[in-house]
Amino acid sequence: NTIELNLGQLEKGGYPHFMLKEIFEQPDCIHDCMRGRINIEGTDIALSAIIDHKEKLLHAKRFIIVACGTSWHAALIGKYLIEKFCRFPVEVEYASEFRYRNPVINPGDVVIAISQSGETADTLAAVEEAKNKGAFIYGICNAVGSSIPRATHTGSYIHVGPEIGVASTKAFTGQVTVLTMLALTLAREKNSIGNEEFRQVVHELSTIPEKMKKVLEKNDSIANLSQIFTYAHNFIYLGRGFNYPVALEGALKLKEISYIHAEGYPAAEMKHGPIALIDTEMPVVVVATHNNQYEKIISNIQEIKARKGKVIALVTEGDTTIKNIADFCIELPKTIPCLDPLITTIPLQLLAYHIAICKGKDVDQPRNLAKSVTVE
Ligand code: G6P
Repeated sequence: NTIELNLGQLEKGGYPHFMLKEIFEQPDCIHDCMRGRINIEGTDIALSAIIDHKEKLLHAKRFIIVACGTSWHAALIGKYLIEKFCRFPVEVEYASEFRYRNPVINPGDVVIAISQSGETADTLAAVEEAKNKGAFIYGICNAVGSSIPRATHTGSYIHVGPEIGVASTKAFTGQVTVLTMLALTLAREKNSIGNEEFRQVVHELSTIPEKMKKVLEKNDSIANLSQIFTYAHNFIYLGRGFNYPVALEGALKLKEISYIHAEGYPAAEMKHGPIALIDTEMPVVVVATHNNQYEKIISNIQEIKARKGKVIALVTEGDTTIKNIADFCIELPKTIPCLDPLITTIPLQLLAYHIAICKGKDVDQPRNLAKSVTVE
């Protein structure tokens, strides 16, 4: 008797693709990312690089976050987090635009560079540019010892393990987790967050891996749903607040691996253009979990339905209102609005994955894309 060992299969841990394996690894990755930074009781957080450099960071005039691709979407969530908890002004820049613009940077500015690979040419050049102009540089990377962490003054690794699938999944949720811990640690040092709120957010963050497991249980139903939408040539993704960058990321995932054209928008911007595209053929994915902009997003869904668009809504468990108006709903565990992206991104990764599989695409190596863009 011989046992045939397929090395490729072994590497993928029994999953058909690295992308699916990496999507399913997220609960463990986020746990690893928080290990040693959040205490076992889930009551306290400390990101050591923030504590070590707190004098510089607390006296920052502003923060600028530079990144590309999916890491740029994490940066947008980072802006919302740092502004909410730390009350610092934060700008988010595409590294490629920043590096060539002779950007206005002064000593006292803090530049955060986010990069999974730590090798993206534009992000590395943006770091060098900002450093030459006197900014303090903080890196958020995955690949240990890569070029960007070596070029920065300090930083935090996301510790999610090697990411092989070209379309980034676990690195994104790892980046958002580090940005959340960064904002909370800094806010506590700055006294810009109350004890009660701090404890609530830290506790809720510690429950995210378990909630992610619940989301992954939806995999089969998302696979079934995906079969319906292989006809589409275009998709729109909408979200508000913390879920606006999630809409951008959902659309990017679909473009990258299924080659379906998709656009993400802040839901309220729909009436300034994209609404003209809506007809019976147009699937619209709406991130509509129960947060503080819930009523507004219901009106957005009604506007789409009035034009006979097909609505796929991500809703909070127990939702009844949106279930009555949307065509399809994916129910997700409830969390607080600022942590919603860690939950709502996962079904959109799965949706993109399954639509691409239904269309017979190579999800791990999509055409024309590279895992790490080290040239211009
Ligand atoms: C490429 C990858 C994307 C990634 C982007 C930025 O385009 O295909 O998945 O988001 O580069 O990469 P980085 O390694 O800097 O996060």
